[in-house]
Amino acid sequence: MGPLALLGLLLAACLAGSGFAGGGGDPDERLFRLWLAQNNKHYSLGEEYQQRFQNFVSNKRKIDKHNAGNHTFQMGLNAFSDMTFNEFRKKYLWHEPQNCSATTSNFVSSAGPYPKTIDWRKKGKYVTPVKNQGPCGSCWTFSTTGCLESAIAIATGKLLNLAEQQLVDCAQNFNNHGCSGGLPSQAFEYILYNKGLMGEDMYPYHAENGTCKFQPQKAIAFVKDVINITLYDEQGMEEAVGRYNPVSFAFEVTEDFMHYKQGVYTSTQCDKTPDKVNHAVLAVGYGEENGLPYWIVKNSWGFQWGMDGYFYIERGKNMCGLADCASYPVPLI
Ligand SMILES: *[C@@H]1O[C@H](CO)[C@@H](O)[C@H](O)[C@H]1NC(C)=O
Ligand SMILES: *[C@@H]1O[C@H](CO)[C@@H](O)[C@H](O)[C@H]1NC(C)=O
Ligand SMILES: *[C@@H]1O[C@H](CO)[C@@H](O)[C@H](O)[C@H]1NC(C)=O
Ligand SMILES: *[C@@H]1O[C@H](CO)[C@@H](O)[C@H](O)[C@H]1NC(C)=O
Repeated sequence: MGPLALLGLLLAACLAGSGFAGGGGDPDERLFRLWLAQNNKHYSLGEEYQQRFQNFVSNKRKIDKHNAGNHTFQMGLNAFSDMTFNEFRKKYLWHEPQNCSATTSNFVSSAGPYPKTIDWRKKGKYVTPVKNQGPCGSCWTFSTTGCLESAIAIATGKLLNLAEQQLVDCAQNFNNHGCSGGLPSQAFEYILYNKGLMGEDMYPYHAENGTCKFQPQKAIAFVKDVINITLYDEQGMEEAVGRYNPVSFAFEVTEDFMHYKQGVYTSTQCDKTPDKVNHAVLAVGYGEENGLPYWIVKNSWGFQWGMDGYFYIERGKNMCGLADCASYPVPLI
């Protein structure tokens, strides 16, 4: 039993014991109230409460139905469980297609073997803790900092914590749009030509568009070159992650993904084309489970989402367009 489930039980016991008013006999409503308490959310009884409750019940049904079936991944309640997918999409994903297919490639495959499986989290202090983008379509900035943080750590042994907000506020000239979307490849270009990225401590994250406050003398991370992996070359991604460092990529998030809890995510709902990708993340490794190959991916929806903030997604099929625009930076040390 996870700590959250345990907390749930304790809360249930407390609420039952105190004759908590309003929970009623309705198990759905009791569960909703527990979920509200666990997620520190408050809706006063009224229209919004009713709407949230309906969304919650409808999501709960989808989750239960999915989990009763034979799937390679399980769904679960999470911080998004009182939202419709449409609402979720507006807050957390980008809405306009980014120039994913325009990312020209310069990745060159090398001779010789690379690992059959790898997990950079286990190889040393190479991956920063999972962060939380909040209600802002800035996933691309987290994918970017995560990738550069890891590339620098692997090259120097020093794990930095880099500033997403600088990318949100300052990287517009490279076709990035703050909380309304962008691409890691374009963000690496920005860092390259801008001559640096500041640390999270000096340029904290606010989850909203702001004015650029970059101070060149405070930059701590630099990029020497940007490597774009060829459109649809998932094997190239594998080689890059296996040989060099984690790789940024984008894919299409559909409703089933919003409820992801654990296991290897696969979907028939999502598309594979570059115009459909709407979320950027970071591949920190790859593995195989019962003959099913998968990517190990760092997300930016906090550590309580998915598997401690991570997810697995099927590897080898361009699942949800994950091989449409992958890239990584070569750090300037
Ligand atoms: C579940 O699905 C897998 C893969 O599709 C299949 O091999 C297996 O037999 C199924 N198990 C059951 C109990 O249906
Ligand atoms: C795509 O690239 C073109 C040409 O550089 C640019 O005008 C357009 O704004 C870009 N689209 C997005 C969504 O960034
Ligand atoms: C990599 O992609 C970015 C934008 O997605 C582009 O600006 C850059 O020119 C590409 N790099 C190479 C070497 O093609
Ligand atoms: C954020 O700023 C960008 C320009 O940098 C703009 O295109 C976008 O619409 C803004 N998004 C929001 C949610 O304000």
